This record gives sequence, structure tokens and C-alpha cells, in this order.
Amino acid sequence: MSDGSWYDADIKQVIISETEIKDKIDELAKQVAADHESVPGGLLLVCVLKGAVMFMADFSRALGRCGPPAELEFMAVSSYGQGTTSSGVVRILKDLDRDIAGRHVIVVEDIVDSGLTLSWLLKYLESREAASVEVVALFRKPGAVKVQVPVRYVGFDIPNEFVVGYGLDFAERYRELPYVGILKPEVYTRT
Ligand code: IMP
Repeated sequence: MSDGSWYDADIKQVIISETEIKDKIDELAKQVAADHESVPGGLLLVCVLKGAVMFMADFSRALGRCGPPAELEFMAVSSYGQGTTSSGVVRILKDLDRDIAGRHVIVVEDIVDSGLTLSWLLKYLESREAASVEVVALFRKPGAVKVQVPVRYVGFDIPNEFVVGYGLDFAERYRELPYVGILKPEVYTRT
């Protein structure tokens, strides 16, 4: 844990440290770079806001050091609201700013839980006639088997618990934590 940050008191357990995240992202970027050495037109990275914002920032820079040229796009979808379980209802809050027809797309996703959001997103991107759509997800929970989604690159398989940090929130808080951890139960009952 970091020294003296306000959030340390709310965290029951750190699951993945800042260093582990950094090392894994470098590894993922090298894998993606090796698999897309000569992709025509470069890669189009699509970040799913807000949860994947930290991952997109670090992954795109790691890819820049070893991979083909990449362009960055952002989408925002909502599936959770204020709670901790997936509603299965996906709403577009911010759409793509450009035509992706014929482009090689990599979806940069924070976490695959039930898989419902990703499954919906992949269908959406395919309907916009991308040449290919692949996914790099930093975290995956066992619950992802609920819907079969083809995730080509996965950073960490983590326990089936609600986690926060490194972009992941609870009620819009804890995104700025540099690590990923589990909240103390009393945090959920605070008003
Ligand atoms: P899914 O549709 O259940 O796969 O979940 C999709 C989205 O829910 C993810 O992209 C996250 O933004 C959010 N999510 C899933 N699990 C967690 C978690 O443990 N903590 C915080 N957000 C989560």
C-alpha cells in the first residue's frame, strides 16, 4: 500500500500491486506488438471509459515503444450504475468519434466480469464494419463465463470479488488508486 493515502484505511486487501500492473502491461504490449507487426493502417485502440482510462494510458504508451502505430478512440458505456452487480443493460454514454470501417480494432477493457458489456460492445463494433476486433482486458473474473466472449489478451485472472483501483470504481470513487484492492465491508454500508 502507499504511504499515508486517505484510501488505505478503506482497503481490506491489495490484490495486485502497482509494480505487478506495470510489468503485466509491458508484457501485454509486447504480445500485441508481436501479433500485429505489419497491420495495414495501424491499430485503432478503443478504450471503454471510465474504468479503462488508466489501462489505456499505460498500455498505449507501452505499445508505442514496441508496436505498430496506433490511434486512440474512447467510448463510454454504462452497465453498473451505483451498485456492484451487472445489470446487463448497456447504454452508450459516448460514442466513437469516427468511422471504424476497415480498421483493425483492439478494445482496451478494464475488467471482464459477467462479460455482458463486452459481448454487447463486440457486436456493436462488428456492426460498424471493423476489419477485425480483438480485446485486451487487464482483469478477468471467473463470472466471465456467463457469456462467452473472445478475449485474446488477458492480464490477470482475479477472484470473484468486487475490486477497486487503477480505474475501477465503487460509486465513482477509488479510481485513482495505483493498485487494485478489495474494499472493507463497512465501506458499502456508509451513507
Ligand atoms: P460485465 O458486464 O459484468 O463484464 O462488467 C462490465 C463493467 O463493469 C466493467 O468494464 C467494469 O467497469 C465494471 N466492473 C465489473 N467488475 C467490477 C469490479 O469488481 N469493480 C469495479 N467495476 C467492475
